[in-house]
Amino acid sequence: MYEQVRIQRTVYGRGENVLICGNIRKLPPEVRAFNGQIQCVYLDPPFMTGDAFARKRPYGEKGWRRGSPSLTAPGYVDRFDDEKAYLRFLRRMITVSRELLKPEGVFYLHLDWRMSAQGRILCDRIFGKDRFLNEIIWSYESGGRSKKCFPRKHETILMYARSEKYRFDLTQVPLPRSQHRKNHMARGVDENGRSYSSIVTGGKEYRYYDDEPVYPGDVWTDIGFLQQKDPERTGYPTQKPMKLLERLLKPVVLPGDRVADLCCGSGTTLAAAENLGCSYLGMDSCPEAVSVCQGRLKAENLTVICDTGTEAAELLAGYDPEAGRLRMNGLAVRGKPYPEEAGPREIVEAWETGKIDGKDFVSDRRYQRSFQFPALIDSLQVDPAKIPDLLVTDAAGIRRCYRWMPETEKDENS
Ligand SMILES: C[S@@+](CC[C@H](N)C(=O)[O-])C[C@H]1O[C@@H](n2cnc3c(N)ncnc32)[C@H](O)[C@@H]1O
Repeated sequence: MYEQVRIQRTVYGRGENVLICGNIRKLPPEVRAFNGQIQCVYLDPPFMTGDAFARKRPYGEKGWRRGSPSLTAPGYVDRFDDEKAYLRFLRRMITVSRELLKPEGVFYLHLDWRMSAQGRILCDRIFGKDRFLNEIIWSYESGGRSKKCFPRKHETILMYARSEKYRFDLTQVPLPRSQHRKNHMARGVDENGRSYSSIVTGGKEYRYYDDEPVYPGDVWTDIGFLQQKDPERTGYPTQKPMKLLERLLKPVVLPGDRVADLCCGSGTTLAAAENLGCSYLGMDSCPEAVSVCQGRLKAENLTVICDTGTEAAELLAGYDPEAGRLRMNGLAVRGKPYPEEAGPREIVEAWETGKIDGKDFVSDRRYQRSFQFPALIDSLQVDPAKIPDLLVTDAAGIRRCYRWMPETEKDENS
């Protein structure tokens, strides 16, 4: 039978990537351990909107196949006592980020109209005015349109260098020229059949060939907000598009570098880093964010520092000696936020086998629902002498760990 226990870390493979449930106000020592080792820090903190955001996640095979049914659970709360409290939080975030960076490193701070001016002043103080690189305007069309003023349709990403040795290679983010605005230019085709736009200035013709790349400036209008049905969506509130993070990271990182995000939310930065062959350090104060991140990151080479807490639930799993299989029949949980109609199997979003070692769970295999693989296996061939311990993540993002207790051990303990 299985007994619920509390663990603090989960380790996958060599555990080199690090994902922490932690709060910047009480910085975990595992973050400080990376001081001076990070090539890029991206911060997308709460914007001081005053909102409490909910998180919507599909559950069960049907939910992951079709996008519904889904379960709504609390996400994160973006509320501060006053502007002073917010600025204290932001100052600490920026200071810790600067300490993490290597001399070649680059820092991005993503804010909106509410706090971008104050954020710029803080960054100027902490990094130095001469380390300011640029202010990127990410402009989009989605959302409502006020008629009382020009609608607020952009967010601001401040960019600072750790030192004058910072790394930046714009050629890593080419755009097709056809995307570029050129309506004031003449069009032509040269003797080799290559089409171009041209302009004559000072008697000289300048040609811009369609098949030559252009590079982004500092106003980005070609990356939209994630639409409701976008397959990239995790259901985590205020998730940023992968395309945005890839454009920010590509010019400043090389494979093998480490990227950090101390407000990582659904893990967009971490997933982008993984796609670019980088390792990562992610932190978020919301434990459910950690579960969402795990759902989109590879379970290969990762240490997750996140207490499984005390939310008790009976695990409906056990060893079937006749079939020689471990049967996984789900979790017996009831009440909010679990929908009444959700069965014990449907409520499981991911489960994994491994071994408990002190306060660690050393995972060997993880099974995770996704839009691509909505079904979850419910039995495994196992060696009766090595029945694994289990870690189960439910659809509300709560992780629980269970130790296998052989009958003899159970009798001795009782
Ligand atoms: C705007 S969201 C980040 C979204 C993320 N960029 C994404 O693409 O999913 C801000 C995040 O900051 C986290 N957060 C808020 N206060 C925090 C704190 N004191 N320490 C660490 N994380 C915090 C929230 O839980 C939330 O997930």
